[in-house]
Amino acid sequence: MIKQVLVLNGPNLGRLGIREPEVYGSTSFEDLAELCRSTGRKLGLSVEVRQTDDERELISWVHEAADARLPVVLNPAAFTHYSYALRDALAMRTAPLVEVHISNPAAREEFRHTSVVAAVADGTVAGFGLVSYQLALQAIAELAAEDPAGHPGPGLEEPAEPADPDKPTRERPIGP
Ligand code: DQA
Repeated sequence: MIKQVLVLNGPNLGRLGIREPEVYGSTSFEDLAELCRSTGRKLGLSVEVRQTDDERELISWVHEAADARLPVVLNPAAFTHYSYALRDALAMRTAPLVEVHISNPAAREEFRHTSVVAAVADGTVAGFGLVSYQLALQAIAELAAEDPAGHPGPGLEEPAEPADPDKPTRERPIGP
């Protein structure tokens, strides 16, 4: 079954290509969207790409993903650094979540060093330009294969059976 994935983008990312090209490159948002869709097809994912400058709208999409148990790749843009409302919405997720950034916020201004959403994501990909999105989709494909029914996020559900101590997991990648 083809897995549906939402790729959600926050403020100013609609202006990719003309926005600070020395930081974010010269590819347009529409070209990024096409790259995500074609990367998804190769991974067996049906990818829908959205962008908004509006926090309320972004949160409503996160609720929609939670209700439909859809995995999400999210570039929260500047909301990354201060939106507790977005973080609280993401904490209700019911399927994998990968945070993504085009630039490497850790190598930029101090205010970008904090992500208030990182702790509620499965992981973060940052600093590889548009390739960050491709890597994030690859991670989603892996996570969805690990847990096809979606998962409710860390600590919310006990595993059905005791874990096999010899089987590597994301929490324990190299065995006992
Ligand atoms: C960004 C990094 C953020 O700090 C910034 O506010 C953005 C884009 C990135 O993709 O590199 O808008 O999320």
